[in-house]
Parts: sequence; structure tokens; C-alpha cells
Amino acid sequence: MALFSSSTTAIPEAPQVPRHIAIIMDGNGRWAKKRFLPRIAGHKRGVETVREVIKACAEQGVQYLTLFAFSSENWRRPQEEVSMLMDLFALALEREVVKLHKNGVRLRVVGDLLRFGPKLVKLIHESEHLTRDNASLTLTIAANYGGRWDIMQAMNKLVAHADQPEHGYSEADLAPHLAMHYAPEPDLFIRTGGEQRISNFLLWQLAYAELYFTSTLWPDFDTEALNQAIASYTSRERRFGRTSEQLEAH
Ligand code: IPE
Ligand code: IPE
Ligand code: MG
Repeated sequence: MALFSSSTTAIPEAPQVPRHIAIIMDGNGRWAKKRFLPRIAGHKRGVETVREVIKACAEQGVQYLTLFAFSSENWRRPQEEVSMLMDLFALALEREVVKLHKNGVRLRVVGDLLRFGPKLVKLIHESEHLTRDNASLTLTIAANYGGRWDIMQAMNKLVAHADQPEHGYSEADLAPHLAMHYAPEPDLFIRTGGEQRISNFLLWQLAYAELYFTSTLWPDFDTEALNQAIASYTSRERRFGRTSEQLEAH
């Protein structure tokens, strides 16, 4: 049994404040370039934004926050940037995890960890273990994550341990194997940095998310910007396939 209902097989709740926000944190490089700084300076400033956004989400009563930190296609970047991003990720984990734990944050990392070095993998597992019983906010970092990778790894797990049912598999068979099976589907998707695309983020899980794009670069995205995104979400009518009239009659 899946922990949360699926937006396609049942009509989900549409909470006033999003229960789950998923963010593509984009624009660090351009933020740095505008200031004649190296790209990594933008990534470092981006970590500060992460800190602020976690706090703001907790204050707003958001229960799940998912941040896209490194995509399965980001390996295509110059080797130097990739290795600095890995170092920054490890450093941020080392520095922040105790604070997150004190604040009751449960940390999860989703993505193909096989490509990371053993030191980083150990750090990830230790951080997840330390914070696993926390209940204030579940913070998921998507690292070496790709939506297609996620669907494929789930499918491989599914076919490995069950005989195919006579009438084929259902959504409910696949869902528990997806990387984010422990969270409800995102209510609100935010992408900073001005691009209007999904870039292979949570393909399956975004089926009925409200999409919000802003040209604000990630290092400039602050509490007020987050609150604006949430206000935009709150003003929308989430129909999940039904008509407005049906919603009004409810
Ligand atoms: C997002 O910022 C961070 C990562 C993808 C790791 P970018 O590095 O993509 O910044 P831009 O898009 O080049 O400005
Ligand atoms: C998406 O940003 C991935 C992350 C923010 C981690 P990119 O900057 O890699 O996306 P594209 O290449 O512009 O689509
Ligand atoms: Mg980018």
C-alpha cells in the first residue's frame, strides 16, 4: 500500500499552504557572472538561500521541501565545476546537519548515489540516519537525480521481485519503488532563474503540481519571494480534471 494517494487514481486534497514544495534552484552561475565572480561563488551564495528557504518553509507549515541540487545531466559540466559542486555539497552537509537535526528536520537524499565517492555516500547515510525520526520538515536533496532514472530504477525493482500480473502492472505497483515514496506529490513546483522547463526533475510526481516560474536568480530568492510563490499557489483552482462548477458545489 502506498503511503499517500496518487493524484491520478484518487482526487487528492488541495491544501491552502502547499504540503510539499519542490524547487529547481537555478541561476547561480548567472548571479556570479553578473558580479564578475567565478560560478562557484554563485553556488556558495545559493547555499545561503537554501538555509533561508528551509526556515521560511518550516515557518509557513510546509511539511516537505525538495531541492534539486545536481541533475543526472550536470555531469556534462566542466570537470572543475562538477568537483567543486561535490565538495560544496559535502561541506554543506557536514556543517548544516547538526543544526537541521536540532530544528527537527528530517533529511533525505534521492538520486543515483553510485556515482558519488564513498566519503560523500557515508556522510549522506549518516545524516539521514541521525535525522530519520524528526517530524517538523522533511528536506529532500535531489543529487545525481533524474526523473527518467527514477522511473527506470523503480521499474527495475518492480519487475525483479514480482511476477507480472495478468492484466499488467498498475501505478500503485510502481509508486512504492519511486525514490520519493515517503512523500506526497508536490503541490507547488518552483523554478528560479527564468527558464521554463522541468530539466528531468520529478517527472512522475509533478503530474498535478502547480508550476511557478520566476526570473529571480536562486541566490536572490528570499523569504518574500517564497511567500509570493505560495500566494500564487493559494490563488489557483486545482481541479484535478474536474470542472469549476463541480468544485463550487463541493
Ligand atoms: C543551478 O545554477 C545550480 C546547479 C545546476 C548545480 P546553475 O549553475 O545552473 O546557474 P545558471 O543556470 O548557469 O545561471
Ligand atoms: C537544473 O538546472 C538542475 C538543477 C538546478 C540542479 P540546469 O541549469 O542544469 O538546467 P538546464 O540545463 O538549464 O535545463
Ligand atoms: Mg542553470
